[in-house]
Amino acid sequence: MIAKQDTVSRSRSCGILGAIGNTPLVKMERLFASVPMEFYAKLEFFNPGGSAKDRPATAMIEAALKTGKLHKGDTVVESSSGNMGIGLAQACRYYGLEFICVVDPHAQKQNLAIIRAHGGKIMMVEEAEDGDFLSARLSAVNRLVKQNRSYYWPNQYANLNNPRSHYKGTIREIDREMNGELDVLFVATSSTGTARGCRDFLREKNRHTKIVAVDAEGSILFGGKRGERKIPGLGAGVVSDLARGQQFDTVERVTDTDCVRGCRKIARLEAVLVGGSSGGIVEAVDRRRSELKGKTCAAIFHDSGQRYLDTVFNDEWVKSELGVKNPETL
Ligand SMILES: Cc1ncc(COP(=O)(O)O)c(C=O)c1O
Repeated sequence: MIAKQDTVSRSRSCGILGAIGNTPLVKMERLFASVPMEFYAKLEFFNPGGSAKDRPATAMIEAALKTGKLHKGDTVVESSSGNMGIGLAQACRYYGLEFICVVDPHAQKQNLAIIRAHGGKIMMVEEAEDGDFLSARLSAVNRLVKQNRSYYWPNQYANLNNPRSHYKGTIREIDREMNGELDVLFVATSSTGTARGCRDFLREKNRHTKIVAVDAEGSILFGGKRGERKIPGLGAGVVSDLARGQQFDTVERVTDTDCVRGCRKIARLEAVLVGGSSGGIVEAVDRRRSELKGKTCAAIFHDSGQRYLDTVFNDEWVKSELGVKNPETL
């Protein structure tokens, strides 16, 4: 369980980091128009770095500065498929820290350009390890930290400030707006920081809310079978310390093509561009529609579709990478 706090805390961070949080919760009226239910989306791309990861990134850096693990001028190293890298690059630049981001070839080029623009350095891992890039990225981080004893690794996959940031922010904001009256919350998973923080808050407040963890086909979280995944951000090829033993009311698995279909549906019906994991959530909700009649549901949309213009929203990519013959029909 994470420490208690009873009021909605506005971030105490300074400057641009003070603008993290209090993102809009938007009622989507058209996505599931044929189902008598309410569906709200927490639009995390309104955070200044463009994703939910601004919250744990800033929380981890501020905690390390506060406890003396980090000092101005030090170097931070982290493995990230993009969003955490951007959040950390932003926080490191703000606090005068160097940043090295370990990424793999699946990272979106645009994300890497943003990290560089924030002064971060990119280290590209070219080969997968045991069939998975996350293992390879983590090995590279370990090597760097061993070789350079002054480097600091926040380790989003074990750091409790990751779920704590969602406990203190994301879910508290949703709960306040919904007056504690939420039946089902859909959350995409990778480190499980978001889902853990939300679950801990809701259980502590004795809310009746059921949590559906939306994971990727091919992710080995929750006993899943390892397989190829092309959509960044969703799922994991390693069960991290943070994810080990975590349980949610339901786990729903989605394919890469489900993610694309969901993203295009939201764009078409709601005029909102969201990233791949949010598209996956929409398909997961759709699958469970018969159980959701009369319910009030919410979902956390981690990032924006603007970062997926060359993939999810590109018909050629969808054809060649996902083998979909007629992407325009999705
Ligand atoms: C786009 C996107 N969706 C979902 C997630 C999953 O969040 P968490 O790591 O908190 O489980 C991530 C994490 O990187 C992400 O980038």
